[in-house]
Amino acid sequence: MAQKTLLVADDDASIRSLLKQLLSEEGFAVLEASTGIEVVEKVKESSPDLVIMDVRMPELDGIEALSRVKATNPKTAVLIMTAFGSSNAAIRAMELGAFDYITKPFELDKISHSVKRVLDYQDLTQEVEVLRDEISSLVQTERIVGNSPAMQEVYKTVGKVAKADATVLITGESGTGKELVAEALHFNSNRRSGPLVKVSCAALPESLLEAELFGHEKGSFTGAMTQRRGRFEMADKGTIFLDEIAEMTMPTQTKLLRVLQERKIERIGSNLPIKVDIRIVCATNKDLQKQVEQGKFRDDLYYRLNVINIHMPPLRDRKEDIPSLVEHFLAKHRYSATAQPAAISEEAIRRLMEYNWPGNVRELENVIERAVVLSRGQIITSRELPFGEHDAGEGEEGEGGEEKGDSSFFKKSVAQFEKDLIMKALRDANGNRSKAAEMLGIYRRLLYAKIKEYGLEGYPPKGR
Ligand SMILES: Nc1ncnc2c1ncn2[C@@H]1O[C@H](COP(=O)(O)OP(=O)(O)OP(=O)(O)O)[C@@H](O)[C@H]1O
Ligand SMILES: [Mg+2]
Repeated sequence: MAQKTLLVADDDASIRSLLKQLLSEEGFAVLEASTGIEVVEKVKESSPDLVIMDVRMPELDGIEALSRVKATNPKTAVLIMTAFGSSNAAIRAMELGAFDYITKPFELDKISHSVKRVLDYQDLTQEVEVLRDEISSLVQTERIVGNSPAMQEVYKTVGKVAKADATVLITGESGTGKELVAEALHFNSNRRSGPLVKVSCAALPESLLEAELFGHEKGSFTGAMTQRRGRFEMADKGTIFLDEIAEMTMPTQTKLLRVLQERKIERIGSNLPIKVDIRIVCATNKDLQKQVEQGKFRDDLYYRLNVINIHMPPLRDRKEDIPSLVEHFLAKHRYSATAQPAAISEEAIRRLMEYNWPGNVRELENVIERAVVLSRGQIITSRELPFGEHDAGEGEEGEGGEEKGDSSFFKKSVAQFEKDLIMKALRDANGNRSKAAEMLGIYRRLLYAKIKEYGLEGYPPKGR
């Protein structure tokens, strides 16, 4: 372990030399200061691991020096020495962030014991911090990309509210990155070492959703063979992300409201309340306010969920983010595991900038992923993009012949969607076509025909 540096501060030279001798013998590098001003300077200059200082010093007393040290070097630990009985100074020192205080006259044993305790603690917290950062960077695989003013607003709000436990409602069209923001909120909060539990309220019918959220006791309903913990319980000390909250039925909304009010849940089939320490983040692409007006969503629940609102701007309103998003997705979706990111032509970028992106960032990601495959990971031109063939020739300027009035647009979009679905199924099935057909719910023969139609014979490429 690297040698630790300590700073000993006292206006009494005999105390300084006594402490210096003791601590040097224990293997520390020891600096000295005789006034508060000197302490502040030396801390700035050599950032010692620990300062041991008397409260009473000329020029600047220990309390004042402590608060300045904490302002410039918050991680430097400080032990304060006070005269026996001056409890006010001791209390003030602890308030200002001193690690501990020692009353004079002291025994040398006591000093070295205190010093070891501080340094052990420092090592431990440092280790925990490193681990925490490693873990969160492992879990948080996806970065939020985009520097448009609208996205900067989003980052600002995330920064401001992540550490609070306030409930957050994330709104915005489909594919705008709501789930990414929910992840950012969790991994930038003090709960980041706790779980992030995601539940989609649209995926399950009412009774199953409730069982999923609240858990159940054995035999509480048909099919409840064993006791099960619900998602709220699993999210204890962490964050629960309730996606597509607008799809929640009224009875479940009522139950959720109770959780918000009481921070307690009951498993289905039990009336034993269980305390849960959770932060709730929810998302929807619907207009919840309107749902409230139409009587489909409880207004009291709406107000409790909408404490903080983060609205995700649609991609068409921040087209300046497209180039950096494209670059990000080219790096993310390589042709093979060892391939370099594909390149993209200026003209293709221009096309991407002209389009209006009803499916937002998700649609852009799909388009790029597909273009990488079509270009075999080489150079993407507008030919590999799904917008109209009539003006996709090399070097030709697209006249922005957009969707309106183009009767084949609908057909092309459907074909594109179909192709994307098939590609996804093939990927998820690791290229096993029978399995992919089963996942899609179509006959294998039809899948074979479609694979041929879309030129997906070699998909997914091996080694991905
Ligand atoms: N700003 C961004 N930077 C990088 N990737 C993004 C960004 N926004 C969205 N994505 C990617 O786009 C896809 C869709 O994002 P996400 O699932 O967060 O959207 P959503 O708003 O939850 O959509 P939906 O309402 O349809 O569920 C994901 O693969 C996500 O990683
Ligand atoms: Mg989502």
